Amino acid sequence: MWPYPRTVAHRGGGTLAPENTIAALRCGLAYGYRAVEFDVMLAKDGVPVVVHDVDLGRTVAGSGAIPDYTAAQLAAMDAGSWFGPQFAGEGVPTFEAVVAYCKQQGIWMNIEIKPAPGFEVETGEVVARLTRQYFAAGGSLPLLSSFSTAALEAARAAAPELARGWLVDELPDDWLAQARTLGVVAMHCDHNILTRQQVQAVKAEGYGVFCYTVNTVERADELLGWGVDGFCTDRIDAIEYMEDATEIRGQTRRV
Ligand code: G3P
Ligand code: MG
Repeated sequence: MWPYPRTVAHRGGGTLAPENTIAALRCGLAYGYRAVEFDVMLAKDGVPVVVHDVDLGRTVAGSGAIPDYTAAQLAAMDAGSWFGPQFAGEGVPTFEAVVAYCKQQGIWMNIEIKPAPGFEVETGEVVARLTRQYFAAGGSLPLLSSFSTAALEAARAAAPELARGWLVDELPDDWLAQARTLGVVAMHCDHNILTRQQVQAVKAEGYGVFCYTVNTVERADELLGWGVDGFCTDRIDAIEYMEDATEIRGQTRRV
């Protein structure tokens, strides 16, 4: 059974706030979301920060790449203005700050390990080690996930007790063999290229199915009807947060 929330706010607040910022987490919470997905990458000093793109320019004002700057430098940058002038003060938050906020507010986390090229093993190791440390005193354990199998292997080596999901675009033909090798608990799939038969096959082998990124109630209903366990969404304003894993399939609520 899927022990996690069914609906997860993508990058903090979906498309309603500057992605992967504390403001995004606040926004998700304001819409009733108590589950979040965000992306974690290492800064120059090895400190993990929450950001999606390796290169600055789209969401973070400036040039260069995340591994060119320390976490303190990134925290002082502007990761909010691209979305709206009222977010001008938002910096790139550290992983530590985001986890602290989520723990304080009771927000469950799907932590996507998003290594800059060449940093796969280091990022997986650091994120898993710190996650273990942050939850040593208890709390609802996050689900780690990554497209990078090297990062997933490193995360397992560092903290094998932390559950991991494998992010894929198209479900590979040999997904089962690879999932067994990686020791993951779930497949995280692009719902646009996922079939009902694939969902059934993954579920039949005892793995969870998580989808990204589902933005309409109709599609959410359809996927849940196929047996999909959970999904992240950019439209936290259109799809109501669902906590209870025992809710009846196909009852995604409109807001
Ligand atoms: O974890 C699901 C989703 O976030 C994966 O794609 O590019 O939005 O990080 P991306
Ligand atoms: Mg992501």
